[in-house]
Amino acid sequence: MTDQAVQTPASNPAGHPTRVFSGVQPTGNLHLGNYLGAIRNWVPLQDQHPSIFCVVDLHAITTGFEPDLAMKTREIAAAYIACGIDPQRSIIFPQSRVTAHAELTWILNCVARIGWLDRMTQFKDKAGKHKERVSVGLYDYPVLMAADILAYRATHVPVGEDQKQHLELARDIAQKFNNDLGVPGFFPQPEPLILGPTPRVMSLRDGKAKMSKSDPSDLSRINLKDSDEEIAAKIRKARTDPEPIGGTMEEIDAARPEASNLIGIYAALAGKPKADILEQFEGAQFSTFKGELADLAVSVLGPIRTRMADLLTDTANIDKVLSDGADKAAAIAMPILAEAKKAAGFL
Ligand code: TYM
Repeated sequence: MTDQAVQTPASNPAGHPTRVFSGVQPTGNLHLGNYLGAIRNWVPLQDQHPSIFCVVDLHAITTGFEPDLAMKTREIAAAYIACGIDPQRSIIFPQSRVTAHAELTWILNCVARIGWLDRMTQFKDKAGKHKERVSVGLYDYPVLMAADILAYRATHVPVGEDQKQHLELARDIAQKFNNDLGVPGFFPQPEPLILGPTPRVMSLRDGKAKMSKSDPSDLSRINLKDSDEEIAAKIRKARTDPEPIGGTMEEIDAARPEASNLIGIYAALAGKPKADILEQFEGAQFSTFKGELADLAVSVLGPIRTRMADLLTDTANIDKVLSDGADKAAAIAMPILAEAKKAAGFL
């Protein structure tokens, strides 16, 4: 996976050692966007740096209390492992099991400015017309996310493109904490790592909309739990334009969003640049391309689905991974929280 190799410095200017942190919410079904935009890119990072992968269950309740939250939390942990995260090397744990996340959020709430949160586009998208009726937690979501990262002094955060603005906010919060409390370099400036050819996987039904768990049409996304037949059928039914594949990648990206998305998905699954895929299918009809894409998707996603199902037959083992992970995570975060409280002047 040469395109996945990531060059990250061993430490940042404030001298904090490199540490990777990321997370996924246990809401709804995991989909190809979560896999290609995030989880898959974590796998090579764990070989290079200490890495922490959280199941962000506190974030999951910002849009309502999830039925079966515990089981969904286990499913995400199983997905991490099935996608290649090794619990021996990386820390996998549920956010709610390390109290530092919630406690640091409170301190950071008093650092973040209302004006900063008012600019968050994801809140505007999620709240839509119901701004007055959504939970306070949904509004505060990005501050909790900043606390997740800063509680570990994480320096690198591999995420999909939609999380870029939240990462910028985390940087601003870190900077303001350090300045206001007179503790230069206390928190590092976490860097987003937006990797691979598909930082934003689009819906299979609309090349201008992001693939998302909340899209009412299941045909818009490939779920990691989909059967081989479902994966192939969704790719066959994916929207395209009537032209054969051709032109330059820049032309396709600019004017043919559905074609651009499918070529990107192929490239990401094959671990090759988009230009190589374009060359391979130059002049082909989408019917041919989709057949090959379906075979490729099934060959990558099928084994992940099977492994996830296997892991979930032994929930005691998943619970052990999560609880060992929580102990290791707490051992890092609690002393940092204690220092942050001291810097804030608490008795
Ligand atoms: P969540 O669960 O909404 O998304 C998990 C990850 O999947 C990425 N993603 C996508 N990437 C490409 N194309 C898509 N269509 C697509 N849809 C989702 C997201 O960018 C994300 O990386 N707020 C985070 C969870 C979180 C977090 C954190 C991440 C909470 N605290 C601290 C990093 C660090 C989120 O978006 O979850």
